[in-house]
Amino acid sequence: MPGVQLTVAITGASGAVFGRELLRALEQDERVSRVHFVASENSLRVMAEELEISGRTDLLAKLIGAAPAKTIQHPDANIGASIASGSHPSHGMIILPCSMGTLASIANGLANSLIARAADVTLKERRPLILCVRETPFNRIHLRNMNLAAEAGAVIFPCIPAFYNKPIDSTEMARQFVYRVLAHFGLPEPGAYVWKANE
Ligand SMILES: Cc1cc2nc3c(=O)[nH]c(=O)nc-3n(C[C@H](O)[C@H](O)[C@H](O)COP(=O)(O)O)c2cc1C
Repeated sequence: MPGVQLTVAITGASGAVFGRELLRALEQDERVSRVHFVASENSLRVMAEELEISGRTDLLAKLIGAAPAKTIQHPDANIGASIASGSHPSHGMIILPCSMGTLASIANGLANSLIARAADVTLKERRPLILCVRETPFNRIHLRNMNLAAEAGAVIFPCIPAFYNKPIDSTEMARQFVYRVLAHFGLPEPGAYVWKANE
């Protein structure tokens, strides 16, 4: 049986570390056979700022820390990529972090980039679409667009990490957040912190 195939996008919201940890977790997850990755043009600016990674050359290797074994990158301008079609098999899509700009495109069906088109296709095919939105505070346009996207079937999964697991640094915080996203997607990870109440 073929493994899980999914699409991951990183957009130009703050929180590139979350996207990096997602790609790393998926590379290590043996249940996952293929990851289609798209980085928006504006995400590169944020990655340079937050991760000190510059340029598109070897971007995946720089993010993952090794040559990718199952992840392939598509240019955001390539509207003819496989993931732009509903006929392409996919188990869903995660956008982490998701900017308010990309949220607006998706919520209003613009399909004006590969990321927005792949998300549009994910919704129309009734596959899981997880939008890890990041902005603070939200204006009413952001709130309206989140509602629109949720009504169309997307899961709004804001980049709000937990603190009860006492993360020692931002990487650990991001990793545990990613594990929550993957558990929601149906891929529980062995390293995930699970709250145990005093029963
Ligand atoms: C350092 C930096 C941090 C940013 N953080 C956010 C953010 O948290 N949320 C957001 O919606 N936009 C943020 N932006 C603005 C987006 O990058 C900008 O709106 C961009 O047009 C989004 O394009 P994209 O969705 O195609 O990546 C940030 C920009 C920079 C340079």
